[in-house]
Amino acid sequence: MPAQSNDIHFPKGFLWGTATAAHQIEGGNTNNNWWLFEKKGKIKNNDSALIACDHWNRYKQDFDLLKKLNCNAYRMSIEWSRVFPQPGTLDKKALDHYVTMIDELLKRKVTPFVTLFHFTLPIWWCNEGGLLNRDREHLEHFSQFCRVLATTFKGKVKYWNTINEPSIVMLGYLTDMFAPGEKNIAKAIKALGTVMLMHAIAYHTIKSVDPYAKVGIVHNVQIPMPYNPKSIMDNLLAKFVDYLFNGAIIRALQSGKLPFQIFSRHNELVNSNDFIGLNFYNFIRVSLKLKDLATSATDNPLCGTDKLCAGLGWEPYPEGFYLAIKRMHHAFPNLPMYITENGIGTDNDAWRQNVLIDHLKMMHKALQEGIDIKGYFYWSLIDNFEWAQGYMSRFGLVAVDFKTQKRTIKPSGKLYAQIAKANAISSSILKKFPQDIYRPIV
Ligand code: NOJ
Repeated sequence: MPAQSNDIHFPKGFLWGTATAAHQIEGGNTNNNWWLFEKKGKIKNNDSALIACDHWNRYKQDFDLLKKLNCNAYRMSIEWSRVFPQPGTLDKKALDHYVTMIDELLKRKVTPFVTLFHFTLPIWWCNEGGLLNRDREHLEHFSQFCRVLATTFKGKVKYWNTINEPSIVMLGYLTDMFAPGEKNIAKAIKALGTVMLMHAIAYHTIKSVDPYAKVGIVHNVQIPMPYNPKSIMDNLLAKFVDYLFNGAIIRALQSGKLPFQIFSRHNELVNSNDFIGLNFYNFIRVSLKLKDLATSATDNPLCGTDKLCAGLGWEPYPEGFYLAIKRMHHAFPNLPMYITENGIGTDNDAWRQNVLIDHLKMMHKALQEGIDIKGYFYWSLIDNFEWAQGYMSRFGLVAVDFKTQKRTIKPSGKLYAQIAKANAISSSILKKFPQDIYRPIV
């Protein structure tokens, strides 16, 4: 079909991808902290990641699906606890398996983006203190992992994501919805500082092996709003949450000062990104009256009232996506950006299609303003294990029947395939999904 003048076009060479994480799809691994968390009975409906999407065995089929979605990029993670099941002991077979996976992507002309830390840690490393231990030898294990991967994949993997969503790591020390499930804010802040240091370690280790590699952190911008805009407490809390979940991370990358640190500096954090990875999901409101800081992610009291909410009680916020892009661009004006995750967990696939289009329009608006966004990765390729929520929340463009492992492309997957193929949203698609205004841009 010839291009129409009111189609929305994306820049030449734009990457259209989907994202996943090892523990959420692979299955067959009991070497990490999330397995321990699961054994403690912390997953909804007692769901288990033991089989997950059986992607470890079905990756070829899944990569074929990726091609059917016309994707030219794919973001995946390599599981540290698989490659190093014991301290200093490399599992060559597991590493070779990942080599085959990357080769299969390259064969399909798909550009891989590899995440080094996507929430899971080896059990042996946690037994040594995990994210609360900052001893050199302890952190050296992580550099060893990064060095092995950078060496193995030099010339094959150009794009690396160091840490996925550093702020979310804190949930493991603020709520029992995330491993390790402790409640101690001092520990949460320490863990956040440690993952920031791990980011710097990953960046410099990879660059020392492969100076041509492009390495960047993945930050999920949250835009916390006061639950009651007239309440001073809610406003103060929103500011605090904003600092904790965004400001502290941005500041660490700009100045080398770890969260809440005033004097000492980690210069290795400054200029430690070749690009910014941005994840964005939903609208959040905070109030001291809500059960905990994560309330908006589980039982949002607004759901069912004025707005439609997705499976986790998450309310889509396309305008917030635009604000998030602007904020990260403002913080790092010279760095290109990749949208490393964006999506919605819902059984209502018509809703997913609408929300997708509304977000892409916002991304396009930012592109038109000159922001250098180079790619978009939808979360997720396939329905998968949504951490403590188990399988109840379905984020995939491809449905998975977890009893039979049958995959079926959803209508949203077909829509995404059309957009990726055209590198544009056609006017007929735009007509079919008229803009919904969710929240005003503040
Ligand atoms: C961000 C995380 O990176 C991913 O693991 C998770 O599944 C999605 N958000 C949806 O919650």
